[in-house]
Amino acid sequence: MSHRPSAINLKPEMSPAELSALGEWLRQAELRGRHLEVGTAAGGTLCFMLECYAPDRRPSFAVVDTMSYFASQLDTVKENLRAHGLAPENVDFRVATSREVFAAAEAAGERFSFMLVDASHKARHVMADLRWLRLLEVGGLACFHDYGTAFKGVTWPLDRVLRNYPQFTRFGQAGSLLAVRRERESDRREVTAWDRLLALAWSPYLQWERSLRKRLDSRPKGR
Ligand SMILES: C[S@@+](CC[C@H](N)C(=O)[O-])C[C@H]1O[C@@H](n2cnc3c(N)ncnc32)[C@H](O)[C@@H]1O
Repeated sequence: MSHRPSAINLKPEMSPAELSALGEWLRQAELRGRHLEVGTAAGGTLCFMLECYAPDRRPSFAVVDTMSYFASQLDTVKENLRAHGLAPENVDFRVATSREVFAAAEAAGERFSFMLVDASHKARHVMADLRWLRLLEVGGLACFHDYGTAFKGVTWPLDRVLRNYPQFTRFGQAGSLLAVRRERESDRREVTAWDRLLALAWSPYLQWERSLRKRLDSRPKGR
């Protein structure tokens, strides 16, 4: 388990500009249905999102995370919520992989009006996580972090899904936070076995490219 600054400072792993846009989108959209965060770190962004709503108008939140990002992660998230005056009992924590929880949520016919997906950044996992879009209500928003950055494992699957499933449109982008809106119901199931197979094939190449770029960037300049 590696050291994560958010484990100590309990802050969101997002920039102030990204948080500000996220808050604006949430307030504008006035979504009333269930909200979901996939990948919460120390819960900094979770606290921020909960605080975007007045206590009596706060939708119910579910959080999916393996809780193995750092030691005592779940306790840290709960402590962070309490420090913000928010009750951990009001958050539906699902401690498991996104893949496991998604299968159960889809089978139960769950729907969400908002989701923030920010878990694994590997293309094959991101493509699997994009299946959460199937559970997004019409008019609902889904946000994805680390889009358009050196994390091609995030950008490549999202671009493919947005190109092939026009029921989802780009709603906004701030920094590396992309918001997508569902415009209508789907006439076919999103994120097929073929999409996932392609992502599986691309994943090693995208990871290799990323580590090569990191190595080149860390070389002393001027040589
Ligand atoms: C980048 S952090 C999330 C940052 C957080 N959204 C924020 O804004 O502060 C990624 C989180 O995803 C979780 N995670 C990674 N892979 C996962 C998976 N396959 N299923 C569920 N959670 C996962 C990690 O435990 C970690 O808490």
